[in-house]
Amino acid sequence: MVFSMAAWLCAVLSVATLVHGLGRAETPTKVVHEKRNTVTRVHDKWIKKGRAEASAPLTLRIGLKQRNLERAEEFMNAVSHPRSETYGKHWTPEEVAEAFAPSDEAVAETEQWLIDEGIATELVSKGSDRAWIRLHTTVGVVETLLDAVYDVYENEDGLQIIACGSYSVLAAIRGHIDLIVPTVQFDERESVWKPGVEKPNMKGLSSAKIKKLPPSGIPGVDSSESFCSDVMASACLQALYNMPMVKGGAGELTLENNSTDMPIFLDVVGDVFCDSGRGATGLFSHAGYPDQAALPGAPAGPPPCSLYRTTGVIVLPHRNSEDAFPASYQARQCSEYMKLGLMGVTVVSGSGDAGTAGLGGQCVGRDGTDTPGEYGRFTPVFPNTCPWITSVGGTALPQGGSVGDREIMAYEFQSGGGFSDMFRQPAYQANAVKKYYDDHDPGYDASQYNNSRRVRGYPDVALASQNYQAVIGGEKVAVSGTWVSSSILGEMILMINRERTKVGKGPVGFMNTVLYEHPELFVDVVKGGSRGCGFGFDAVDGWDPASGLGTTDYEMLKKVFMALP
Ligand SMILES: *[C@@H]1O[C@H](CO)[C@@H](O)[C@H](O)[C@H]1NC(C)=O
Ligand SMILES: *[C@@H]1O[C@H](CO)[C@@H](O)[C@H](O)[C@H]1NC(C)=O
Ligand SMILES: *[C@@H]1O[C@H](CO)[C@@H](O)[C@H](O)[C@H]1NC(C)=O
Repeated sequence: MVFSMAAWLCAVLSVATLVHGLGRAETPTKVVHEKRNTVTRVHDKWIKKGRAEASAPLTLRIGLKQRNLERAEEFMNAVSHPRSETYGKHWTPEEVAEAFAPSDEAVAETEQWLIDEGIATELVSKGSDRAWIRLHTTVGVVETLLDAVYDVYENEDGLQIIACGSYSVLAAIRGHIDLIVPTVQFDERESVWKPGVEKPNMKGLSSAKIKKLPPSGIPGVDSSESFCSDVMASACLQALYNMPMVKGGAGELTLENNSTDMPIFLDVVGDVFCDSGRGATGLFSHAGYPDQAALPGAPAGPPPCSLYRTTGVIVLPHRNSEDAFPASYQARQCSEYMKLGLMGVTVVSGSGDAGTAGLGGQCVGRDGTDTPGEYGRFTPVFPNTCPWITSVGGTALPQGGSVGDREIMAYEFQSGGGFSDMFRQPAYQANAVKKYYDDHDPGYDASQYNNSRRVRGYPDVALASQNYQAVIGGEKVAVSGTWVSSSILGEMILMINRERTKVGKGPVGFMNTVLYEHPELFVDVVKGGSRGCGFGFDAVDGWDPASGLGTTDYEMLKKVFMALP
């Protein structure tokens, strides 16, 4: 009896083990990989409209963990530091792809997971750098795969986006995955216009100021320096920064199409650097973007969707507050800017037009929600906080001043500046930031911003940013904002690249490592500041989180870069 009881128990146990084992094989353990932040302020701007249709097509992009990212600074210093023996020896796209490619194991195991989930292999593809696995399928299939529920959200402009609150992946492969898109990101670039909604004109310029000028413009403004404190044109750039007059160059911005569709964004979150086809939050028709056929030497037409060589300079619009997207998403984009730098591309961005507040002028209250901007924690702006771009603040001539006067911080808007909550301080700015704290500690505590002295500070430099003469839709206007100052720096680097090409040298590429080594290139800006949230940072002697190193001079910049190998 005892024996048979034991046998019975044994049998039951083994059946249970068997069932349990089978269960595991059929529904392997999934774990939550990322969740929507409960107090994410940006998400509140999207109103849930209901479930996404299960049959709707969806291309899912699985971003695999890349190797060697911890060596980014070492790699970048090797090609960009003026004292490096390998200065200017930029990497080929193939070398970049090889150095950072996910491990074979990560690729194989993630693909196996998809196969085990019953996904047909012909629906799965990956780029040459294998950093992303794409799955062309439907919402319903993705919901099952990721244990996720997708809803449609809409913002007040009439943009629609699909997103989920959280998503899960197989526990065994979680370590291989950085992020999956689209899931919890709420990136406007992933959105579409609601049917029937008219796209707003000039949306991207809303954060910059636009003033109407007389229809005929201001007589003589193009060739005279006497208007520069009111309206900036080529003559002012020449007088202030020794910039050669360039036809169609900065100071003669022409934005004829009013379009929000200008190819601005590089889809760096894809596996390739390609135009996302919708410049949703910015408007940029100027320096550097390879699709700007107006620029001499620029290839016509949209860039091919693969690793490619640009004209060497990319000017990015400031994207959003640093806390607007998941950390995984921004870290991934920042790594892509780093890769561009390794390949000899200079990436520049305006520091933002709302001072220490976020792009909409908001700051962060104690509960994590927006404040109207008069109080609250500073809101650093991406991509400025990414150490691998050059962030450009905005200055101006003093009111009523002339080109001989030292520039002050922009006063018609607040130029963005501050310290990252996310990215560590790069070595190239360690001394500059230390000196800033030694001499001018702003005295705010950790509730106001990350005052650890170990995070990335921005901007790096600043240039004039107020009232550039421009033509928009045939009308003469004056535009202001750091997207203008950043385009001027982009223009300077494009011209220097051309000079370097003439003598058989490569492009400038990532340049902060050079700039911080040459403080003599800059005219210090010591008046005004970057305000917002009730407080801000003042422009002071030396580097500061309002004007960076200061304004620069084209001829001097050129001399330094021409002397480098
Ligand atoms: C606007 O863009 C289109 C196509 O990109 C182009 O053909 C046209 O010349 C542009 N200018 C105006 C004023 O429409
Ligand atoms: C500030 O940044 C440092 C360095 O990244 C980090 O260790 C620290 O936790 C951050 N502090 C806050 C309050 O976020
Ligand atoms: C550009 O916008 C202006 C004002 O919003 C409008 O009058 C003009 O027709 C627009 N031009 C184009 C080419 O869309």
